[in-house]
Amino acid sequence: MSDASSRARLESLREQLHEHSHRYYVLDEPSIPDAEYDRLFRELQELEEQHPEWRSDDSPTRRVGGAPLAAFSQVRHETPMLSLDNAFSEQELRDFDARIRGRLESERPLGYVCEPKLDGIAVSLLYVDGVLVRGATRGDGQTGEDISENVRTIQSIPLKLKGESWPSELEVRGEIYMPRAGFEKLNTEAREQGSKTFVNPRNAAAGSLRQLDSRITAKRPLEMCCYGVAVAGDSWFERHSDALARLADWGFRVNAEMAVVEGVDACVDYYHRLLSRRDHLSYDIDGIVFKVDDVALQQKLGFVSRAPRWAIAHKFPAQEETTVLRDVEFQVGRTGAVTPVAKLKPVFVGGVTVSNATLHNFDEIDRLGVKIGDTVVVRRAGDVIPQIVQVVLARREASVRDIAVPACCPVCNSELERAPGEAVLRCTGGLVCAAQRKEAIKHFASRKAMDIDGLGDKLVEQLVDAGLIETMADLYKLSLDQLVELERMGKKSAENLLAALTASKDTSFARFLYALGIREVGEATALNLAQHFQTLDALAEASEESLLEVADVGPIVASHIHSFFASDHNREVIRQLRDCGVCWPEVVSRSDTDQPLAGQTWVLTGNLESMTRSQAKEKLQTLGAKVAGSVSSKTDCLAAGANAGSKLRKAEELGISIINEAELLALFDREKL
Ligand code: IVH
Repeated sequence: MSDASSRARLESLREQLHEHSHRYYVLDEPSIPDAEYDRLFRELQELEEQHPEWRSDDSPTRRVGGAPLAAFSQVRHETPMLSLDNAFSEQELRDFDARIRGRLESERPLGYVCEPKLDGIAVSLLYVDGVLVRGATRGDGQTGEDISENVRTIQSIPLKLKGESWPSELEVRGEIYMPRAGFEKLNTEAREQGSKTFVNPRNAAAGSLRQLDSRITAKRPLEMCCYGVAVAGDSWFERHSDALARLADWGFRVNAEMAVVEGVDACVDYYHRLLSRRDHLSYDIDGIVFKVDDVALQQKLGFVSRAPRWAIAHKFPAQEETTVLRDVEFQVGRTGAVTPVAKLKPVFVGGVTVSNATLHNFDEIDRLGVKIGDTVVVRRAGDVIPQIVQVVLARREASVRDIAVPACCPVCNSELERAPGEAVLRCTGGLVCAAQRKEAIKHFASRKAMDIDGLGDKLVEQLVDAGLIETMADLYKLSLDQLVELERMGKKSAENLLAALTASKDTSFARFLYALGIREVGEATALNLAQHFQTLDALAEASEESLLEVADVGPIVASHIHSFFASDHNREVIRQLRDCGVCWPEVVSRSDTDQPLAGQTWVLTGNLESMTRSQAKEKLQTLGAKVAGSVSSKTDCLAAGANAGSKLRKAEELGISIINEAELLALFDREKL
């Protein structure tokens, strides 16, 4: 290639990669497969290696990070980075509205922009002629640190602005944060490696941005949402909401929950609506920011000390609180793992009263250095179980005592063992242990397993405690007379339970395998095992070597499966289950080449009449499809049952093929499923 055509190719690759990152990281609508992106990326890397003179700060290859810095340099903010006043109650929010309307002598309701208050790190990004030239932390508001190298590694931050109508110098403000899932993953990895965990996503984001080595930052799951533009003097926009719309046009991520409303009542409504959805968001927020939309009014209102008069943050209940660790109990799970559970002085945190929290395992207790009687920080956010994240050593009293590691199983007194390299202590009692039996039966009955309607955790405990069942097979031997004897069990519920038990007997081989609760055998592995061996006898007789032939099965899983079927007790329970009528249709053999949907991504939505969604999912997986939870441009087909909603609309918009239940059934029929 001539230099001119190499150069043209390089520019074109950069353009394409910018466009694809924007679609992927900002719009959540990727348009090419990851492998294709990687291929373009590598091609660009190679071209830049051949032509170092063409390297440039706005190249997508800069996102992987560069050589470590000795220190961060200081950045003076031309326009100071302000903070916000807080409102801690509805009344304080109403007072704020009344106060500013008083100042503006306005009887009419004010227009407000409502934005989630992301819990991360405030940063400022400077673009000159559309190119990112600097990123800085807030610091004390006047002077921050230059974190340009780190900021470049964050995929949702454009290195180059889109469109053309941007000012030649643009300073954008926003929050860099770590979504909860990324945070949990980072901490799980840290626990596995015995390294320090982060207290919360905010600290994790701060720690990741403070790295002098940007290659570390590049590996952290950081995102940025923009919430404003720094403008000194005359404004470019008439409304704050216009500024946000422009930011989105220029390629920035702006919070999708943002709304423009009229008057304080609507602000109060917005606050409650988002508070009720707080646990379901993928990131932490600590409140709502309300901003006067009209920029002329903002200018009239001005600032007091270091906060604008035209904005306020209405705070949500805190997700971290301090309380006292009163005691530690030990819970035994299905696989015998003994988990230390913190018994806390009840505390209101993350919107609920919490009196138990997980301590994960004994390494975690060591790492935290926690003792009974300590004052601790408890965090509860999203669907994650409340956790102790820190000890407040300054408040430790002389009366604290060590947490004793149990010598034997707290439930059945069997010995405990700790596998080399594992942080987990396990009860060796197996099904002798009532706790393991209960958990095994709960798992057996659960939705993705035998799906026994109405057999919840409490009822399983009652049945085991009353001595009515010992194994999962005993479930199918229960009689109406026995059930009605139980406390809080009427005749009708007992009949319903028996009917549900009968219905559950018709299952699939994969579900049955999953329901057995073999260690490390999740839904996907169960499906692979069922496909590979087709019959229970073949699986039960399989050697560890032949188990290794199955997709996803490594030596550890193979040894768990092998020892499960080597146990006489387990074989006996399985025999009884089959005697009681648990059965499944024969598994049709499918080689890899006989998977007509291999490589495709399907989504299921709406109500199906002839089967449950998880049954349909299992069949699609058998045909080789990946079944995803949401529609994107990567979706190959949407199967829509009755009353399908937003997923159907999105598939229509994206022009994805859609089939109805009858067509789905016809497909399964053709494939003899
Ligand atoms: S506006 C002049 N909007 O909250 C207004 N701030 O206490 C300055 N924050 O340091 C901030 N989400 O880090 C604004 N949607 C949002 C925000 C937000 C989070 C943070 C920001 C700031 C702090 C102010």
